[in-house]
Amino acid sequence: MNCGRFDPQRREYVITTPRTPVKWINYVGTLSFGGFVDQTGGGVICRGDPAHNRIVKYLPQLPLADFNGETLYVRVREPTGYRVFSAFHTPTLDPFERYECRVGLGYNHYSTRFYGLEFEITVFVPAGASAVVRKIQVTNRRDGEVEVDLIPVVEYSHFDALKQFTNADWVPQTMQSRAIRQKDGRLVLTQCAYMKRGRGENFYTSNRPVSSFDSARALFLGDGGYGSFARPQSLFAPELSGSEAQRGDNIGALLHRLGRLAPEHTQTLITQLGQVDRVEDALAEIEKYRDEGAVDRALEETQRGWSAYLDRLQIQTPSLAMDDMINVHNPRQCYITQNWSRDLSLYQLGLGGRGMGFRDSSQDSMGTLTGAPEESRSLMEKILAVQKQDGSAMHQFYPQTLLANEGDAREHQDRPKYYGDDHLWIVLAVCAYLRETGRFDFLDEVIPFYDKDAAGNPLESGTVLGHLTRALSFTQKNRGRHGLPLLGFADWNDTINLRAGAESVMIACQYGLALREMIEVLTHLGDSALAGEYRGAYAQMKKLFNDSAWDGEWFVRYFDHDGEALGTQRAETGKIFINSQSWSVLAGFADPERGRRALDSVRQHLNTPCGIKLFAPGYRGFDPDIGGVTTYPPGAKENGGIFLHTNPWVIMAEAVLGRGERAFEYYLQINPAAKNEIIEIYECEPYCYAQNILGDEHPQFGLGRNSWLSGTASWMYQAATQYILGIRPTCAGLRVDPCIPPGWKEFRVRREFRGALYEIAVHNPGGVSKGVRSLRVDDETLVGSLVPAPREKKTYRVEVLMG
Ligand code: GLC
Repeated sequence: MNCGRFDPQRREYVITTPRTPVKWINYVGTLSFGGFVDQTGGGVICRGDPAHNRIVKYLPQLPLADFNGETLYVRVREPTGYRVFSAFHTPTLDPFERYECRVGLGYNHYSTRFYGLEFEITVFVPAGASAVVRKIQVTNRRDGEVEVDLIPVVEYSHFDALKQFTNADWVPQTMQSRAIRQKDGRLVLTQCAYMKRGRGENFYTSNRPVSSFDSARALFLGDGGYGSFARPQSLFAPELSGSEAQRGDNIGALLHRLGRLAPEHTQTLITQLGQVDRVEDALAEIEKYRDEGAVDRALEETQRGWSAYLDRLQIQTPSLAMDDMINVHNPRQCYITQNWSRDLSLYQLGLGGRGMGFRDSSQDSMGTLTGAPEESRSLMEKILAVQKQDGSAMHQFYPQTLLANEGDAREHQDRPKYYGDDHLWIVLAVCAYLRETGRFDFLDEVIPFYDKDAAGNPLESGTVLGHLTRALSFTQKNRGRHGLPLLGFADWNDTINLRAGAESVMIACQYGLALREMIEVLTHLGDSALAGEYRGAYAQMKKLFNDSAWDGEWFVRYFDHDGEALGTQRAETGKIFINSQSWSVLAGFADPERGRRALDSVRQHLNTPCGIKLFAPGYRGFDPDIGGVTTYPPGAKENGGIFLHTNPWVIMAEAVLGRGERAFEYYLQINPAAKNEIIEIYECEPYCYAQNILGDEHPQFGLGRNSWLSGTASWMYQAATQYILGIRPTCAGLRVDPCIPPGWKEFRVRREFRGALYEIAVHNPGGVSKGVRSLRVDDETLVGSLVPAPREKKTYRVEVLMG
């Protein structure tokens, strides 16, 4: 079964039913103003921060059929009386004659048809605007005239998203709406919590005369408050009550009478839901998107912005599934994760529990380096500003306030208060930025550390290089009895929380990779003293790792506070973990023989047709000594589920070892597009990666969850472009060293790099997986696989012959 198809020409996915197994969303706007919309037109919108300035109330836990956030009611005068239905199917659930939702770059476009009326609705946030615009066109496809009313409705949230659900007295006492009547019958409905007057007022308005409105939910639903969104009573009376809510649950409902629509005639309504400081001062600004031409131009501009981002890297390979992902959907998801971190999705509710993650955002920033390097850098600057003086990191922070905290580590008195890995991710991110852009002076930029004095001023600032060296020295100084880095509260795997004193084998590898990347940068810059010091640290950690972590067939994953290894052949549960195998190769710690054996063990013990599991077998019950992982049943999430974020690391490691067939098999097996025809099992959007798929120890093996906001996006993009296709920025230039299935005869890549455009053609007549026989840049034949950094901003033609 499927619920839609890809449309590569238009860079869209076309959902062909409103009744997907779970809601399928798309993101509009950015964190400055935006959120997501689902396939039934509902969604959540916020400005600046979903926790602290939320506009729309949307509850992913509600039944799929319910009203959620926003909808468009349509009222038609039939001989028998009013017919009221939603142009989005929910919440009225009228039968649809046609339903299509095109998931586009920064917009959703709905084409629906009910009772002979056709709707074309585009939802998006114009670049730089603080409003979601909905352009709604209704066409009469009946034989006769029909009298149509359109009633767009939104439900507001309190700006403090969590308070909305924890305080049902204060919140409703503060919520207020007011109508501003304009000339020729138009109306702006304003809404805000009392304290936000003049400092953040929401507005809901349209470009046509409004014949009546409501802002008190109870009056709109009617029946003494017992009416429902499935059948609002007020829509069965000629006009709405004109309520200007002074408290309570606030909505915006605007009734427009379009009059009699002749057959084949179309009318357009444009709505805006936005936020400004004071609505009265912004009426001119609001006027702008009442104009259809301006709306169309803004939509085109949004699309152009996305195209510019995507066009910086486009590929043509023998695999259409890969082309679709790399040319559109994967970098698109990278941008979304870079913007939203793990804050706002159907699964990460953005109520203030998390904000942005130090670890997560560092990795996200790497996924947008090709398409939007300077945006990545801005994010890195924020992240560095929540690093502590001792080199460790605050685990998470809120984007609007930059206030940070220690994440889940706060909840356990007896556990360390820091995560052993966080600070190392930013080292990898900054090095990747330097390789991509060649802007090595980023290392000299001065950024404060997070620690503050009583007045809230930073105690110390340091250069970016200073931040990175602090990060590395924190790990160097905080090591355990095997000389491996201490785990802290957790490492990449948030949910294995061992008692203080435990060591992490993965962090050892991560440290190794970070050192290696710093050595490359420092050598390039001629800082041989520091490079030499890091070479020493690298060699030492490599030895400690190999002396302690090899278990015969694979590497163990942790040592607990007693020095006992987790992830050994003798264990009954948690025998083999994925990350110590892949990372041993990525760090260059495993020799080729051990590396191959470790990855063969991954294949043998962890691979499934739906992806590679995090570890096996899963733990069998709650054990506070192991931590959060044991709160899940076996096969779910971190407890031996298919946690997709880790799969690209195996792909990269296989590519490092030169096993192109296997790397590509792993790549394809988790491609979301491959789920399109088994959506009844997988359930999530097939146009972006999910965070997790239930593993084969779980009865619902194959079910995906937590789509969109996952590090999978960034790493899959890096794995595909830099390891499989093998086009990898280095300090000195662009390395072209693919690792592909031997069956591939050729592929092409167009890639911008440091202001120049590279048109790369790779030929593989001998059917190898890896190895570059010759390299030509324009007319020059070069030795090796490195294309030197561009000297001019021009197009370079690169011909690569594998063999
Ligand atoms: C979630 C977290 C991420 C963590 C992963 C594994 O995706 O956002 O930080 O690495 O789970 O526990």
